[in-house]
Amino acid sequence: MHELYTVLAGYYDAIYSRRVQDIEKEIDFVESIFMEDAKREVKKVLDLACGTGIPTLEMVGRGYEVLGVDLHEEMLEVARKKAKNCQNVSFMQGDALEIAFREEFDAATMFFSSIMYFDEDAIKRLFSSVVGAIREGGVFIADFPNPLVMKSSGPFVWDEKRGDETLIITDWRELENASQRLHFKRLVQILKPSGEVRAFYVHDILNLYTPREMRLLAREYFSDVKIYGDLKRELGGNARRFWLVGVK
Ligand SMILES: C[S@@+](CC[C@H](N)C(=O)[O-])C[C@H]1O[C@@H](n2cnc3c(N)ncnc32)[C@H](O)[C@@H]1O
Repeated sequence: MHELYTVLAGYYDAIYSRRVQDIEKEIDFVESIFMEDAKREVKKVLDLACGTGIPTLEMVGRGYEVLGVDLHEEMLEVARKKAKNCQNVSFMQGDALEIAFREEFDAATMFFSSIMYFDEDAIKRLFSSVVGAIREGGVFIADFPNPLVMKSSGPFVWDEKRGDETLIITDWRELENASQRLHFKRLVQILKPSGEVRAFYVHDILNLYTPREMRLLAREYFSDVKIYGDLKRELGGNARRFWLVGVK
């Protein structure tokens, strides 16, 4: 069981409150890719690993019809509540590796480093599923961090609020250079006004990819592959975050 996406699903948006604030800028960039890189008009989007729907609902707000898919029902419950008054959006529980859509979408997205859950074998299955799901000229977009500027680091401690509860979040990152894996460890402590404290520990093992590796893997599946850096449609010298763009 992944506690960040199950028992803590209701706290996800509070933990990532900064991301909630930044999502407009991110989706501005994604829209520029829809317009400049896709070889068809993007109207219908498949948002894989959609979580609580932070990017999903930003795209819906801009007029796209979006289906959000996530492995964890608890995350989708939060997304569905937020989408209560929205049209043109639906959410479905499922594994991104098992989706069986046939050319139903103009674009597919996978945001916030979710692609790091997939090792080389899984990422090939993911690309194959995505290519099946999007139409000719459609585009796949996924962001991932630059492993070449990453170091083992932490603990980093910060706090957030959810209503009258205080969250104390402590993160560590441990890099395994040889296997190109990142151990992401997080302690979430929830302090209630009554003085009660609940604590949850999460340990994720994530896969790191250089831009060259990602390009080589993706070009077996997409007719055109680009890697952009940060929120620019170019690959700058020391970008901290990359954007994979695969055109079918
Ligand atoms: C870091 S969160 C990102 C959520 C969302 N994309 C966002 O930008 O806020 C990662 C999400 O990936 C989902 N996930 C992990 N493995 C998955 C898989 N195989 N299929 C579908 N979703 C998956 C988790 O349930 C979680 O909601």
